Amino acid sequence: MYSHLRRILFRLDPERSHQLALNALRLAGNFPPSKWFLTQLYETSSKPVQAFGLTFKNPVGLAAGYDKDALAINGLSALGFGHLEIGTVTLKPQPGNPRPRVFRLPEEGGIINRMGFPSRGSSYVQRQVTKARRPLSCLIGLNLGKNKDTPLTEASNDYIDLIRRFMFYADYLTINISSPNTIGLRRLQGREMLEQLLGAIQKEREDISLGRGGHSPILVKISPDLNDEEMDDAIGVILDKGMDGVIATNTTMARDGLRSKYKRESGGLSGSPLAVKSEAVLSRVVKLVGGKIPIISAGGIMSPEDAKKRLALGASLIQLYTGLVYRGPKLIKEIVENL
Ligand SMILES: Cc1cc2nc3c(=O)[nH]c(=O)nc-3n(C[C@H](O)[C@H](O)[C@H](O)COP(=O)(O)O)c2cc1C
Repeated sequence: MYSHLRRILFRLDPERSHQLALNALRLAGNFPPSKWFLTQLYETSSKPVQAFGLTFKNPVGLAAGYDKDALAINGLSALGFGHLEIGTVTLKPQPGNPRPRVFRLPEEGGIINRMGFPSRGSSYVQRQVTKARRPLSCLIGLNLGKNKDTPLTEASNDYIDLIRRFMFYADYLTINISSPNTIGLRRLQGREMLEQLLGAIQKEREDISLGRGGHSPILVKISPDLNDEEMDDAIGVILDKGMDGVIATNTTMARDGLRSKYKRESGGLSGSPLAVKSEAVLSRVVKLVGGKIPIISAGGIMSPEDAKKRLALGASLIQLYTGLVYRGPKLIKEIVENL
């Protein structure tokens, strides 16, 4: 079924077809009979996974960027995911980069995007998350980013305001410091800046939990383009500052071996061409964290075999984005049933 739909969607501009798909999921999710139908179609049974003190009904999640403004939580939750990562959400609304900003590379099963965090802002997303019908059949994570016009030296203010706003609205939060499309953002992964940022977050969450009890786990999403030394530093700080998990990885700036006419477009590359790099990063992160905190693997997971490999390498959970665009929602069920 999806291969027919894909033929139509792939004739449209990638961002336009994404909006259509998201809108269809929003409508289907808000109408009980169609939500019930989707649930029946994609229902799977699987052994639950424990991570970050949470129980995920299966290890397959939706990666950040697919539903940035929490428009289709109900519909997406009917596709069989164990978790949805909503966002990236920024504190204030912002438009992101000019279009076109998403390019399909069908020859290689990849996507290049330079969205630049278009976001309707935190107030809007908070309302959307609150509106989603409970109980949901999966957990919700919120991926947080700084506004383009917030200087790097003040980035921690954005993240802390976002944490305050969302701490009690999400099952977990992700600090996104690895998108290649916000100028300077990835510098926050450097030892000194990361110590400051995560130190401030650690202090804030202590204050929150002292005041109101309990807190959502906080994860950090890292880039696949860190060298070994940078990665050692980043993971050292993440552990030192008491973060609860790592998401490896975001998109890459690398363009090795691409043939597509879009290969010179600026932005982050995802999908199949990212797989080898994301796997290598996962292996290194597994070694560095030594079992102290769980890891979510993302980057080029396009098949049940890819998913199995990531879990065998030591990931507790996995996330999909580009695989969903090329293979459709049946990929989720195929992965879960093959584990
Ligand atoms: C169009 C597009 C938009 C994305 N937007 C975000 C984002 O807002 N925040 C984020 O952390 N990751 C974002 N990502 C990265 C994905 O979450 C994921 O880490 C990456 O694409 C690798 O997984 P994949 O190969 O399965 O796509 C985006 C990816 C794509 C393709």
